[in-house]
Amino acid sequence: MADVPSYPDVIIVGGGIIGLSAAWRLLQDGAEVVVLDPAPGTGASHAAAGMLAPIHEAYWGESHILELNLAASQAWPAFADSLGADAVDYRRDGMLMAAYDADDKALLDNLGDLHEQEGLPVERLRSRECRAREPLLAPGVRGGVYSPLDHQVNPRRVVAELLNRVPTIPVSATEVSRNQVVASDGHTVTGQQVVVAAGAWSGRLLGVPIRPIKGQILRLSGPEGLLQLPVRGVVRGSSVYAVPRSDGEIVVGATQEEQGFDTRVTAGGVYELLRDVLTLLPGLSEIDLVETWAGLRPGAPDNAPIIGTGRDGIVYATGHYRNGILTAPITAIAIAALVQGHEPPMDLSRFSPDRFRDDPTDDALRPEHLSGVTA
Ligand code: FAD
Ligand code: GLY
Repeated sequence: MADVPSYPDVIIVGGGIIGLSAAWRLLQDGAEVVVLDPAPGTGASHAAAGMLAPIHEAYWGESHILELNLAASQAWPAFADSLGADAVDYRRDGMLMAAYDADDKALLDNLGDLHEQEGLPVERLRSRECRAREPLLAPGVRGGVYSPLDHQVNPRRVVAELLNRVPTIPVSATEVSRNQVVASDGHTVTGQQVVVAAGAWSGRLLGVPIRPIKGQILRLSGPEGLLQLPVRGVVRGSSVYAVPRSDGEIVVGATQEEQGFDTRVTAGGVYELLRDVLTLLPGLSEIDLVETWAGLRPGAPDNAPIIGTGRDGIVYATGHYRNGILTAPITAIAIAALVQGHEPPMDLSRFSPDRFRDDPTDDALRPEHLSGVTA
């Protein structure tokens, strides 16, 4: 195998945004790192919209995820600067969540109660105030929530910048242990420490219940500034979002489907996204539809990421589900700390790889998680 250092400090399996960000952090700290991936940057990170939205991705019963997401948001400015904030189109305009009809407004009010309980800085807006912030919204919109803390970035540009900085080897891992990876070409790579960041495929390498959650997503292209703010809508009970980029691209997402490792784009998926986004933002109907895509979010049964050292000695960085772009920088800091034996930036106990077992000294997963291990 060409170009593999003889005994790197860290071997990272998986070159999506999580593995590459961890590698970049470790390289900045002076470690020798190599990332193994047959197709770096082509997984969920290529599909993602790039919302950095701790508030609009907050759900009841997930305070520990909210805490991680808020810490992640704070880590973003330095991370964006390290790659070039303009190069990755990092924007801090805030985000608007809008309700289309009265039932949607009730859903949003319920989330507003969560925001209040958690002390999150949001502004509840009436219909007219929503349209003053984002004139493209349909006149019928019932109300909304503006969150100045929710930001955005172009994930494809982030991955491209990371790939300019991080050495990758185009092989896939077939077996992993604490300090060794067997690659698909038969070679074994040995180093100090192995980190697995293989996204939705992590369950194939590790005994953790990570499953793929499919998201279909569209890219439209129009005049720059047509849509001013990222908008998340609830439209007759379904969720849709539109995220504008500085170059006029608008990303519209996303479905959420349990379909295994299927990445087909379907007529029904595209129809639902266009139906909902054009109901919410009718002014988008005349611009170009330039791409349809589908990616696989890596999801754990409790929706929380897996970040930590397992009882097998492997460092896990997976399960980032809907928020892997947001949480990449804080995950990278945590992984670097774990690898280097420093104190992680926050309490990681709720994200432990061994939380799916009754007995952390035993390999057996709890029975309810067995079907979640991807074969
Ligand atoms: P991936 O990007 O999937 O990367 C995993 C990598 O592992 C791949 O490159 C793959 O080739 C490699 N790999 C797999 N198996 C092996 C192996 N055996 N050996 C070596 N390499 C291997 N998050 C947000 O924060 N904001 C958003 O707006 C957002 N929008 C999204 C929209 C959609 C439609 C989807 C699908 C996801 C979205 N997400 C969003 C979630 C986010 O994309 C993911 O959480 C994140 O990309 C996960 O990154 P990852 O590096 O773990 O996985
Ligand atoms: N966070 C947006 C998505 O996963 O679709």
